[in-house]
Amino acid sequence: MIAGREVCVPVGVLVGLTETCFGRLGLSREDASVVADVLIDANLRGISSHGFQRVPIYAKRVRQGLAGGSEEMSVVASFGAVCHMDAGKGLGPAVAVKALDKAAALAREYGVGLVALGGSTHFGPAGYYARRAASRGLVGMVMSNAPKTMAPYGALERFVGTNPLAIAIPLARHEPFVLDIATSVVARGKISQAAQVGEPIPLGLAIDSEGRPTTDAVAALAGSVLPFAGPKGSGLALAIGMLCGVLGCADFDDELASMYEDFDKPQNIGQLFLVVDPWSVQDRDRGERRWDGLIDRLGALAPAEGRGPVQYPGQLEAARASERARDGVPVSSAELMAFAECCAEYGFDDLATAGRSLVGM
Ligand SMILES: NC(=O)c1ccc[n+]([C@@H]2O[C@H](COP(=O)([O-])OP(=O)(O)OC[C@H]3O[C@@H](n4cnc5c(N)ncnc54)[C@H](O)[C@@H]3O)[C@@H](O)[C@H]2O)c1
Repeated sequence: MIAGREVCVPVGVLVGLTETCFGRLGLSREDASVVADVLIDANLRGISSHGFQRVPIYAKRVRQGLAGGSEEMSVVASFGAVCHMDAGKGLGPAVAVKALDKAAALAREYGVGLVALGGSTHFGPAGYYARRAASRGLVGMVMSNAPKTMAPYGALERFVGTNPLAIAIPLARHEPFVLDIATSVVARGKISQAAQVGEPIPLGLAIDSEGRPTTDAVAALAGSVLPFAGPKGSGLALAIGMLCGVLGCADFDDELASMYEDFDKPQNIGQLFLVVDPWSVQDRDRGERRWDGLIDRLGALAPAEGRGPVQYPGQLEAARASERARDGVPVSSAELMAFAECCAEYGFDDLATAGRSLVGM
């Protein structure tokens, strides 16, 4: 859906360009490094709609003072294992990593930890944060609300966001299980990528502004994306929006500032980070054996006709990440040119030249 002309770029180069760009925009070294790690990790895993492509819009909002580093982040209220934090309009990845770490610390203390974060901004791929919990042997569940771009079931106009949900489970003998999904049929970022390279989208992903099914990516962006599985994806998106909005003291989806269209106020996104220490109540050896055994049995199932081996969520992305760390990451020339233009606009001429020269590789 988003081929365009692609260039294979070493992962270190993409991380370096991204980190340097956000450092020059005023983020601390730590925050710039986290933002680069979250975004380029998405490219490594094949979630390019939530990776390097987002650098120009994140940069624009930082430049305009609508987003920034994590230094203004604070605890607003806490009770036992539940904590409400305010992100102080910190750039999503920079604050989300800290919120997850706080939830993980609560889970170590209480067996479970919930951090509800308000005042946040777009945080990219939800799975990154859930996987961070799993990398410490904990179960992570992460969700976010998002500005209205999706028509809820039965409606012809936008009202909810494509509110993502990620669930990560640590496995002893395998890469972690990571279910990481938008509540739309596909993430809207994939439609933006198709629009960026002038490609059509499959029917069934979106409707145009008149409510007609469309394969035109530009018309889809002007209209509404559709929830997965009708009332189920729609209901899940609403539930996520309701939980993030009230527990995080954030705006509801239909009240949220759009990252791309509203430059008069910061976004006030809500994000929830729920971390569970499964071994606080279960025997670790037995639990790990059972999880791994289930994954083994799943992988041994006979594949459906014309399909390869049965995989579990996160498996494909983990394999892709190892390959791309070794061989390089495919990036569309349109994304590299957009990065170069954004850097040129801010006077980061060396970064602009580096971006352009990659297109010529
Ligand atoms: N920050 C935001 O506001 C926001 C909003 C929407 C989506 N997103 C992000 O967009 C990204 C993409 O979402 P999406 O819904 O388009 O993803 P998708 O449709 O590609 O589905 C991804 C999930 O399906 C699993 N999967 C894919 N192929 C599989 C297979 N063959 N076997 C088993 N499992 C398989 C993956 O492991 C992953 O868990 C996610 O990272 C999500 O967090 C973010």
